Amino acid sequence: MGDMAAFIQGLPKAELHVHIEGTFEPALMFEIAGRHGVTLPYASVADLAAAYEFGNLQEFLDLYYQGMNVLIAEQDFYDLTWAYLQRARAQNVLHTEIFFDPQAHTARGVAFTTVVDGISRALDDGRETLGISSRLIMCFLRDKSAAEADAALDQALDHRDRIIGVGLDSAEIGHPPAKFRDVFARARAAGLRTVAHAGEEAPADYVWQALDDLGVERIDHGNRALDDDALVERLARDGIALTMCPLSNLRLRVIDDMRRHPLRALMERGVRVTINSDDPAYFGGYVNENFRAVQEALSLSKAELAAIARTSFTASFLDQADKDAFVARLDAHAASA
Ligand code: HPA
Ligand code: ZN
Repeated sequence: MGDMAAFIQGLPKAELHVHIEGTFEPALMFEIAGRHGVTLPYASVADLAAAYEFGNLQEFLDLYYQGMNVLIAEQDFYDLTWAYLQRARAQNVLHTEIFFDPQAHTARGVAFTTVVDGISRALDDGRETLGISSRLIMCFLRDKSAAEADAALDQALDHRDRIIGVGLDSAEIGHPPAKFRDVFARARAAGLRTVAHAGEEAPADYVWQALDDLGVERIDHGNRALDDDALVERLARDGIALTMCPLSNLRLRVIDDMRRHPLRALMERGVRVTINSDDPAYFGGYVNENFRAVQEALSLSKAELAAIARTSFTASFLDQADKDAFVARLDAHAASA
């Protein structure tokens, strides 16, 4: 391992943007399909992996929703989450804030409780046996109605002890944040934290809406913010962190070349940025592969990488004492490099 790769591997970090259903590796998908006697429309693990060629977000989402159809039992959600936690811990991810898409499961007749219980049991075991800290964020599917989001929020409030916040994902264009103003207001009133995907494929206006109509604390992706100077200033002034996902952006053709990724330009203008994996089973890498790809393309220094990892903790939903403890570990690593 090269010196920079070793530095990235050893860097203590938090992951703030990962969809648990997007960590579903082909081999596990075949195993779980087999358990339920379901036949996947692919002859082998290699055939399935070879289908992961995407022209845009929707082409990915079609396979993402198809893949998760084999998740039925509580144990399936446990195994999915457990596999991710082991990989994350092996990459020195010390804290992770995981998204899940309950509407994609309840629409298939899988109970909300089955999903939350399976994921939560793995998170508890991860805390005990791997020492990995975690939180769970429920995402609303923005291509479904506001009424359906309301129903999902009601179910989340029945599991209030397990769910720290809400987010907004799925097909972006044509489904602006403002559509979900009321349900986000209700989530905030209930004490839930808030984030939203915005500015991945849709323009900067969607980022403004996420801030002004939804009141979110972080923006997921936010690539298109760079098109709008006033928005960049707003993000910098208010300390709104962006959870960026470089390999996802490349694979979904949000960018055509990693050297044109907006992360460095945003950071230089005072915006808080983090590096995350989004849907690692589909996009060719977990957090460290994302760090390496963007480091090489943008020639980021160790000090810049450490600053990004520091932001991953300070922009997390941990309490201040936990943030301070993680940042101290990070500073020790950066000082020894
Ligand atoms: N964008 C929007 N929705 C998603 C994504 C994404 O990158 N991954 C999983 N759901
Ligand atoms: Zn995402």
